[in-house]
Amino acid sequence: MKTAGTGSAADFLPPVSTLPALRQAASGCRGCGLYRYATQTVFGEGPARARLMLVGEQPGDQEDRAGHPFVGPSGRLLDEALEEAGIDRDAVYVTNAVKHFKFVRQELTRRRLHKKPAAGEVRACRPWLAEEIKVVRPALIVALGSTAAQSLLGPGFRVTRERGRVLESPAGPVLATVHPSAILRAPGEARAAELRAFVRDLTAARRWLARATTRRPGPAARPPRRSRTRPTA
Ligand code: URA
Ligand code: SF4
Repeated sequence: MKTAGTGSAADFLPPVSTLPALRQAASGCRGCGLYRYATQTVFGEGPARARLMLVGEQPGDQEDRAGHPFVGPSGRLLDEALEEAGIDRDAVYVTNAVKHFKFVRQELTRRRLHKKPAAGEVRACRPWLAEEIKVVRPALIVALGSTAAQSLLGPGFRVTRERGRVLESPAGPVLATVHPSAILRAPGEARAAELRAFVRDLTAARRWLARATTRRPGPAARPPRRSRTRPTA
């Protein structure tokens, strides 16, 4: 057992980062206290070469039981919005800022109610997200809600002010938008408008990615490897 570590997920990183090695190591993470009450670590899923990465907050009740991200009500809304935005979920790497479900028990029903992770828990868990980003190297990250956005863009970031635009971050280009659960919680009349705005942000992400693909290398682009390593005879 490890002692005197960093008090974060960093103490549990595998010697070599691959997605399977990270997933395996994260299943035994005790980098913060959240592992104690949750069922299991819910690691990210999706193609290792995905060009788009979606980052949520933390697994919910159903994700905690299933062991997969975004499979509950928020996940269904996300699926619907991705489809409307013309994004294939199977091509996207989907993960969370925090890998364990944090909850409080409702006294009478004993239902487990989502509780927002504390800044210290987000910080403790960030090494997993950082490694996922290093391995997948997505062209664009979409942060779903303020927990993900602040993990990537800093604690001062406000989704309400800066949603829907691609911003530079130490992790690469990030577009922040609302969390699907905020749409589910919105009152009747506001809900449809919130959903449209969410689809608009996801569509902006798809268009940005399409432009990033078609962009031709400019004069500053690296020369083809051939001309650097093997002079043409
Ligand atoms: N909400 C999240 O942020 N992530 C999930 O995986 C599910 C719900
Ligand atoms: Fe580790 Fe993150 Fe779970 Fe905390 S929430 S125990 S840092 S995986």
